[in-house]
Amino acid sequence: MGTLGTYETVRLDHEDGITFVVMNRPEKRNAMSPQLHFDMHDALDDCIMDDATKVVVLTGAGNAFCAGQDIKEFFRASDKDPKARLRNRRASHAWRWEKLSKFPKPTIAMINGYCFGGAFTQVSACDLAIAADEAVFGLSEVNWGIIPGGIVSWNVANVLGFRDAMWFALTGETFTGKEAAAIKFVNRSVPLAELRDTTVKLAHSLQQKNPIAYRYTRDAIRSVRGMSVEQAADYLNAKSDALKTGDPEQGREKAMRQFLDEKSFKPGFGNFKR
Ligand code: ACO
Repeated sequence: MGTLGTYETVRLDHEDGITFVVMNRPEKRNAMSPQLHFDMHDALDDCIMDDATKVVVLTGAGNAFCAGQDIKEFFRASDKDPKARLRNRRASHAWRWEKLSKFPKPTIAMINGYCFGGAFTQVSACDLAIAADEAVFGLSEVNWGIIPGGIVSWNVANVLGFRDAMWFALTGETFTGKEAAAIKFVNRSVPLAELRDTTVKLAHSLQQKNPIAYRYTRDAIRSVRGMSVEQAADYLNAKSDALKTGDPEQGREKAMRQFLDEKSFKPGFGNFKR
């Protein structure tokens, strides 16, 4: 198990380079209590520090991925306690967005079941997302008189097309994993029985990538969306230069040698040999 700890509301299962970070309150459909936010923060730090963890897969225990914020423990319990509310809000944002969207290793959201409200943030923060066809998604906030807060609205507006974002936020209608793939909230969906194997296969393929090139690429795609074309050109040139000098594996040189001199790989069809 190495440096992976044990937590009250989060389970870490390690298997062949992959750490499954499991939101683990199945009796509450993995709704996010303050404790879950604190545990997630520490559990993800473990995954960063753990050399055996090459890819993180975020998922939920039982029949839910995550039923959103815990309405009782996250909201009602701190309604009259502004200090607790602030602390909870910070913890909630810190792991789901600040940590996860810039995670130093590849991340995949594996949506195995119910996915509501606040849970849309951690799905959007993961690099890639695969859902079960049978999963049930919903922006239910409007149904009980609040807005998709935190940064759910921001994520939904960024990830979905305008009409779909408006439709699902304003109607609160649920949609399946299959529909989530069709509107591109997730990359793809597969039958629940195939979800784990499909995710593991993807995780193993990401493990083959040059880690720093993978991370710079992910950061580039996320970052350029808010930039002008001039800013993007400047940023990407600077990052390309930084990658050339900062890659401890010297992947670019290795790949050129294998392609041009040894003729042992074709970059169009797969990775160079690391
Ligand atoms: N907050 C607190 N408790 C919850 C939450 C939640 N978000 N979701 C489920 N639970 C609890 C239920 O209260 C219930 O607790 P109990 O056993 O003590 O009564 C337990 O989890 C099981 O829930 P059920 O409703 O009995 O399970 P079911 O499988 O029938 O339904 C479903 C699951 C559809 C997820 C339903 O629980 C639900 O609608 N939950 C709320 C989903 C939601 O709207 N989330 C968004 C919250 S807002 C936000 O995130 C910003």
